[in-house]
Amino acid sequence: MKPRITFNIITLFPETVESMTDYSILGRAIESGIIDIQTYNIRDYGQGKRKQVDDTPFGGGAGMVLKADVMDKAIQKVKEENPGTKVILLTPKGEKYSQKKAGELSKKKNITLISGHYEGFDERIRSFVDEEVSIGDYILTGGELAAVAVVDSVSRLIPGVLGKEESLAKESFEENLLEYPQYTQPREYGGMEVPEILLSGNHAAIERWRREQAEKITRKRRKDLFENNQ
Ligand code: ADE
Repeated sequence: MKPRITFNIITLFPETVESMTDYSILGRAIESGIIDIQTYNIRDYGQGKRKQVDDTPFGGGAGMVLKADVMDKAIQKVKEENPGTKVILLTPKGEKYSQKKAGELSKKKNITLISGHYEGFDERIRSFVDEEVSIGDYILTGGELAAVAVVDSVSRLIPGVLGKEESLAKESFEENLLEYPQYTQPREYGGMEVPEILLSGNHAAIERWRREQAEKITRKRRKDLFENNQ
């Protein structure tokens, strides 16, 4: 069976990526052939005996900068092997990632994610990519976690990746709402009771209550999301 979607991840740390994708739901989806994840090691495109991938910044300053020529070679190789792939650079300067974006990407067949590392990358690398994405307003030590966040959030939208039960739980964020509260046994714990309505057996009333709770928490914590619904 051909995978429904292929992710290529260009990184200096393929093992870091694999340690996050080879288990649990993603691991199962790879195993069953629904998704495919290929890593490309930037070091393989490094220069000289020491396979150099970065250098000091022109103009001075701290840290090392990933080289444009090295990255160009790596990206070209991925494009050669994956014609038509959508190339996305993970960077705090990118467009803010969202559930909506995950939905759009889940329609693609082939996506390439570039994880920068160290202190930065040569500005010219931007000209080799289709898009730049940030997963939030904070700085990670590398783009691997960000790339895996994209892989994970896109994969769970691919039919068959989540089981039936799991896929029910995915609804709420797609409506720009945070999730309603959930409870299980015991009915009382440390003086905290499960809301009576959930024990009522009245499914319509439970549905209504859950919707109200979702709206209430979203209005309180995430006005920005809530206002998108109005
Ligand atoms: N690399 C470092 N920080 C990042 C972020 N917030 N989003 C995407 N890539 C990053």
